[in-house]
Amino acid sequence: MMNVLDIIKKCRTPRIRKARPRDVPAIIEMVDRTMAGDYRGIVPDDEIAKWVGALSMALKGPWPLALVADYKGLVSGVALVRDGMHLSLLWTAEGCRGAGLGTALMDAVEHKVFSVGHPYMTLSVYRDNDRAVTFYQHRGWTVNSQYVGEVGAVVLEMRKKRS
Ligand SMILES: CC(C)(COP(=O)(O)OP(=O)(O)OC[C@H]1O[C@@H](n2cnc3c(N)ncnc32)[C@H](O)[C@@H]1OP(=O)(O)O)[C@@H](O)C(=O)NCCC(=O)NCCS
Repeated sequence: MMNVLDIIKKCRTPRIRKARPRDVPAIIEMVDRTMAGDYRGIVPDDEIAKWVGALSMALKGPWPLALVADYKGLVSGVALVRDGMHLSLLWTAEGCRGAGLGTALMDAVEHKVFSVGHPYMTLSVYRDNDRAVTFYQHRGWTVNSQYVGEVGAVVLEMRKKRS
C-alpha cells in the first residue's frame, strides 16, 4: 500500500531504467487510462476509441531503447525509441505530470541516442497537442515538416540536433 510520501516520490524521484517485458501491462494500463482524455479535441473520438487497448501491438518488441520511470516497481512514465533515433512514445502518468518525469525520460533517451553518435533525433506529434508540442519546443526540438495524418489531424515532424 502506498502512502502519501510514496506517491510524491513515485512522481519526483523515480529511477529511470530499461523497460522489461514484464512492464508491458503497466505501460498499457498507464497509457490507456489517459489516452481518451489526452487526445480529446485533437483526434476524432471514434479514432481514439480504436486506439485504446491497441497499444499492445505497438509495444511488441524488440525495443533496443525503451526506458521507464520506476519507483518501487510502479511505472509512472515510458519512453520508446525505434530505428535508433525516433522517439515513438513518450507518456507519463496523469497524476505525475508537471513533476519532471517527462524531462527525466527525455534527457535519458537523448543522452543514449546522441552518445552513440546519431546526429539528430526525430518524433511525430499532433499539432494540436499543445502541451506536448510546447514541452518539446522548450527542450530544443523544432518543427521540420508537417502533414495531415490518417485521422485527419495535422502531424508535426519534429527533430533535435545533437549539440
Ligand atoms: C508531454 C508529457 C510527456 C510531458 O510529461 P511531464 O511528466 O508532464 O513532463 P515535465 O513534468 O518534465 O514537464 C512538463 C511541462 O509542463 C509544465 N506543467 C506544469 N504543470 C503541469 C501539469 N499539471 N501537467 C503537465 N505539465 C505541466 C511543466 O512546468 C513543464 O513545463 P516546461 O516545458 O516549461 O518545463 C505528458 O504531458 C504526457 O504524457 N502527455 C500525454 C501523452 C502525450 O501527449 N505524449 C506525447 C505524444 S507525442
